[in-house]
Amino acid sequence: MNILILGSGGREHALAWKLAQSKKTNKLFIAPGNGGTRLIGKNVPLSLTDFSKIKEFVLQNSVNMVVVGPEDPLVRGITDFFITDDLLKNVAIIGPSKQGALLEGSKNFAKEFMLRHQIPTAKYKSCTLKNIEDGFLFLEQLNAPYVLKADGLAAGKGVIIQDTLSKAKNTLKEMLEGKFGTASKTVVVEEFLKGIEISVFALTDGDSYVILPEAKDYKKIGVGDTGLNTGGMGAVSPVSFAGEEFMEKVKTKIIEPTINGLQKERINYKGFIFFGLINVDGNPYVIEYNVRLGDPESEVVLPRIKSDLLDLFTLTAQKQLNKAKIEINSQTAVTVMLVSGGYPERYEKNKIITLPDISDNTLLFHAGTKFENNKYFTNGGRVLSITSLSVNMNEALLNSFKLADKITFEGKYYRNDIGYDLK
Ligand code: AMP
Ligand code: GLY
Repeated sequence: MNILILGSGGREHALAWKLAQSKKTNKLFIAPGNGGTRLIGKNVPLSLTDFSKIKEFVLQNSVNMVVVGPEDPLVRGITDFFITDDLLKNVAIIGPSKQGALLEGSKNFAKEFMLRHQIPTAKYKSCTLKNIEDGFLFLEQLNAPYVLKADGLAAGKGVIIQDTLSKAKNTLKEMLEGKFGTASKTVVVEEFLKGIEISVFALTDGDSYVILPEAKDYKKIGVGDTGLNTGGMGAVSPVSFAGEEFMEKVKTKIIEPTINGLQKERINYKGFIFFGLINVDGNPYVIEYNVRLGDPESEVVLPRIKSDLLDLFTLTAQKQLNKAKIEINSQTAVTVMLVSGGYPERYEKNKIITLPDISDNTLLFHAGTKFENNKYFTNGGRVLSITSLSVNMNEALLNSFKLADKITFEGKYYRNDIGYDLK
């Protein structure tokens, strides 16, 4: 099987690493990839939104399967592009249709979907500039803090939480007037839910599904969950508070109604569903859906899957996922993200990275790196993700932190408290 993975982050390195372990994998391409993926497969300089160039590459290189890492090509309809093309329709594509991708691409669509299928989520009201008064009225009925979400994709920055009613009203107005361009022409005003967040993942063929290991992401830049939001500074899997009883509720109240909803609405969905959940007094609520794997969650979720991932993808593409069994490693996986100084605000690139030898229990996934003139350079905000596995979470963390100290590049920063709240 020849496989093309689309994306360039730690998630895509982890996907490439896992797929390379399958005996059925022949050629592995990553577009555009990073400094780490080049060690596993061939990096190809393709734009993720230039579908006709992707088509050309797939046909010229006899690619049998395309695995879509990030949401953007899915929201733009790459899966529909493949399915409706005579030459591409037999290429397996892992990622939902444009309609399915709306679960992430439109917060308003996702909320209406949850309402239709009685999936627990925060109370909300959507509004546009035309009915901004309804938005103000709804805000007045809520207690502080207030959650405002741009309907469309806004590079992960479209959610604003305000602590006073007047600030919330101002922000709502600013958003509707174009703070995030067309993405915030519609805004979802939402009740604030208090609890701990958890990421749960399923792989589905639209009828059946398998549940992947759950993970906890550390989103804030600063130690003790302080400061600005980032793409994610580290992750841990499994999550100690997600016991059997809680996960059973996740399955029956959230995962199954979601898959049944997709089926009922005849939405073509072959790919990952990422349930961003919040645990409110032992009950799961959906904060958001994503239509892909998480990053850095992938760097702990994939290393815990013992089963052959290519087999799971093949069954997904054939709509035979009911035949799949997924085997999970019971060890704890942790990942610690090394980032560029200044991230998530302005930061510099092109800093030389020195990499020491890596011990057996540790995996180094590249994110924002490139390889030029025989050297690795930083090439993004999130640079490297250091994953360790152990029966003991503290030992895993110690191994990741040890390597985090040894790797050098100018401005290197990482959170040295990943997992602190799960000890
Ligand atoms: P999102 O972009 O949807 O992941 O939202 C970003 C972050 O905002 C989430 O990870 C939560 O920490 C927070 N958030 C979103 N919606 C709510 C809510 N209804 N209640 C509390 N926190 C929320
Ligand atoms: N780590 C959160 C995300 O991938 O959206």
